[in-house]
Amino acid sequence: MSERPNPLCVVGAGYVGLVSAVCLADSGVDVRLLDIDTTRLAVLRKGGTPIHEPLLNELLASVLGSGRLTLCDDGAVAMRGAEVIMVAVGTPPLADGRADLTQVRAAVTEAVRHAGLDTVIVIKSTVPPGTTESLRSLCRHKGRQIPLAVCPEFLAEGSAVRDFRQPPQVVIGGDDKGACERVSQLFGHLDTPIRITDATSAELVKYGVNAFLALKISFINEIAQLCEFTGADVSSVADGIGSDDRIGRAFLGAGLGFGGSCFPKDVRALNQVASYHGQSFQLLRAAVEVNQHARSRFVAKIQRALNGKLAKRRIAVLGLAFKPGTDDVRQAASIDVIRHLEDLGASVVVTDPVAGANARPLLPNTEFVDDPYDCVKSADAVLLVTEWPDYVKLDWSRVAGLVRRQIVVDGRNCLDSDSLVELGFTYIAVGRPIRKPTTVKSAHSGARRAADVLAMR
Ligand SMILES: NC(=O)c1ccc[n+]([C@@H]2O[C@H](COP(=O)([O-])OP(=O)(O)OC[C@H]3O[C@@H](n4cnc5c(N)ncnc54)[C@H](O)[C@@H]3O)[C@@H](O)[C@H]2O)c1
Repeated sequence: MSERPNPLCVVGAGYVGLVSAVCLADSGVDVRLLDIDTTRLAVLRKGGTPIHEPLLNELLASVLGSGRLTLCDDGAVAMRGAEVIMVAVGTPPLADGRADLTQVRAAVTEAVRHAGLDTVIVIKSTVPPGTTESLRSLCRHKGRQIPLAVCPEFLAEGSAVRDFRQPPQVVIGGDDKGACERVSQLFGHLDTPIRITDATSAELVKYGVNAFLALKISFINEIAQLCEFTGADVSSVADGIGSDDRIGRAFLGAGLGFGGSCFPKDVRALNQVASYHGQSFQLLRAAVEVNQHARSRFVAKIQRALNGKLAKRRIAVLGLAFKPGTDDVRQAASIDVIRHLEDLGASVVVTDPVAGANARPLLPNTEFVDDPYDCVKSADAVLLVTEWPDYVKLDWSRVAGLVRRQIVVDGRNCLDSDSLVELGFTYIAVGRPIRKPTTVKSAHSGARRAADVLAMR
């Protein structure tokens, strides 16, 4: 069998399942997309996408129109005759940080029930090392062992379609090499290396990537703190460190740290696996702690900027999504920061181009507005929390005329500090000297910088 597996059943129409299904259908495979969430399916059936992801709407319309993608709520229909059943369901964190594998077990059990003689089941969800091995016992059916492989997904929200189509590599793990080859044919149209290994190593590659990227972010946030103590500018430091090819500039953006549905949960899950084996993976715990501190230090900065008083202050927050390009607010810095500010008595008004609906249930005391200019009206401080291009490119002279106090606290170090101070704003960022309107010409002078450093403490 050298042709690509056809049809393919994808189980789970979330960020990973939906993007995988749509992209593989677009590449010529007949895909059946199964979900138990009928509301989500109803949105998809109308041609809408339940998540915000660039390019996804257009591609979805195209593959639904061509008949390459079929939406299903019945496992028997979706899985019957499928050559590959790809499990892309959630693996949310349990209270202690371990990955909850309930959805994966249920999906694999159902896949086994409907598997045909040629079916390979492949796990696309992020699962802890050892999971695929342990699930093999579920895959014995009527005296037959259904092949099981794992193929972790590396896409990032906000660029998911592009990432799925141009991955740095495809990793496939399993003890049945024929089954792994069969899964690899799904990705044969991509110009990317395919790495086939044992299942546990493949699982650990996925956790290793996420943990390492999280470490990079926390590392630069530690450097940022040192910059604040010493008067250095973390953007210049990160440029310098990152221009060393052995390190690279990516994920060296100081600021509010990492959030989202993957890094925080995967780092904690990996730490749990290490603890289970008696290992103390101190780097992981440190990365989580530094990340949490980044949020509280940000709030402390706002408080200092307002002379210690947050009660009855109106704080405008630009951005709720954990990063631009997505409507996902799972573990987003915005939620922690806003709750903390509200606990300290501030009244918070927020805006986000797409994530408002997801954030609203998490922030019952917060005022939501659509227009960023409405958001900043009469604000005592404006916070940049998600670096949406629209917010970076705001007409800041208009903002200057709307706010009560000209204070900007930039949680992503992405605003143009020169123009802001020229407009009269006090500009506060992460790991960079505070800039005040009067410092516009002399911001880089040693004396001024030393004074700013003192002011930040
Ligand atoms: N979101 C990301 O950026 C990303 C990136 C890489 C890997 N991952 C991993 O991929 C997996 C999926 O993540 P996600 O963000 O797409 O999850 P999600 O929560 O957005 O979606 C999961 C979907 O699976 C459906 N589902 C659950 N059980 C089912 C069942 N038995 N049958 C059919 N459908 C079922 C749910 O209704 C939901 O629609 C997780 O393990 C995650 O860690 C996520």
